[in-house]
Amino acid sequence: MHTSIIRSTGYWAPSNVITNAELVESYNAYARRFNAEHAAEIAAGEIDEAPFSSSEFITNASGIERRHVYEKSGILDIDTLTPRIPPRRFEDISAQAEFAMKAVRPALEKAGREGAEIDGVIVASSAQQRNFPGLSCEIQNLIGATGWSFDLTMACASALYGLNIANAMIRSGQARRILVCSPEIMTCINVHSRRDVHFIFGDAASAILVEADDGTPGGWEVLGTHTQNKFSNHLRSDYGFINIAERTVDPDYTPGLDQDGHRVFKDVVSLAPVVARDLMTRIGLEPEGVRRAWLHQANIRMVDMIAKRILGRDRTPENAPSILEEYGNTSSSSVVMNFEMNSDDMNAGDTGIMCAYGAGYGVGAAAVRKR
Ligand code: COA
Repeated sequence: MHTSIIRSTGYWAPSNVITNAELVESYNAYARRFNAEHAAEIAAGEIDEAPFSSSEFITNASGIERRHVYEKSGILDIDTLTPRIPPRRFEDISAQAEFAMKAVRPALEKAGREGAEIDGVIVASSAQQRNFPGLSCEIQNLIGATGWSFDLTMACASALYGLNIANAMIRSGQARRILVCSPEIMTCINVHSRRDVHFIFGDAASAILVEADDGTPGGWEVLGTHTQNKFSNHLRSDYGFINIAERTVDPDYTPGLDQDGHRVFKDVVSLAPVVARDLMTRIGLEPEGVRRAWLHQANIRMVDMIAKRILGRDRTPENAPSILEEYGNTSSSSVVMNFEMNSDDMNAGDTGIMCAYGAGYGVGAAAVRKR
């Protein structure tokens, strides 16, 4: 059995920032116009009026103050409430691959690796911009790798599902170096006209380079990985290839992103720590032996509760840091960003645990020790 090492990580977030105040101003302008245009149907009880949002609610309920976004003007324009992204020609790099490369390049550079040395590329993200060829094939080609590649999706837990597979393949000797990248352009999936979700997501890309130990010092030993699912419809996005066919039957069908926030909160806070603790039990890791938990960033109260259940002690910014305030929920890239931003101060021999959770429900956990 080989030892698997996280050799390097990379992340990138766009420089465009939307504050809560900007987002709420545009959402409320949309809601006002919607209510005025539908006054008769609302008065007749045929449709609900659009409720108003507030920055204070968003900050208090989620811990999010700002989010970095791929394209700002289209999200704030009440006629679109969606990023504006020009279609590209076949011969040009795709938008999402370009986005991914901004995290892939620094990960390779930090490790001193050429793309040709990579055996496998896994694109692990909530959504891919096309069905085929896989985004992973494009990224593999861009870095000059010649092995295998595939895309996987498990919502906000995707990156740790990718790491789980990479770890297993490296331990078993099927590959020596695997790149797992998570380009998450969640503002294209989100429904900015729905008050209960309009503030949640930001955009960011991350990459993890996992290698078989070849004696090179440094990096993080992967002590173990674990994934577990429990089906739920309480967090769901119905965008997909079948929408065009569905509109031939119902031209007004507009698939969206739906969630029962309360239910998701409750279910995930129960499930995620169990998966992390199962992993810890399997590898003989006691909570007091874990210096830090890097958790997926969805909601600050979820981070508090999940950290406490994993670590067996109250959360502090030291033992379970949060990047929510600045970035919001960047889906599966968030756990990797959190790890990279908050691990330099750890010492050789320190142990930490990553845990990511999201729609599915899917939960991924990985225990790592600094070398
Ligand atoms: N602005 C102002 N008020 C709002 C609002 C908004 N954007 N959204 C909801 N409210 C109001 C509600 O109408 C409700 O008012 P009421 O008490 O008069 O009925 C009140 O605020 C509380 O709403 P509630 O839905 O209970 O808020 P919450 O405290 O549960 O927070 C979430 C909502 C979405 C932040 C929270 O449920 C959550 O984070 N859930 C997990 C979702 C998630 O992270 N999904 C991704 C997982 S990977």
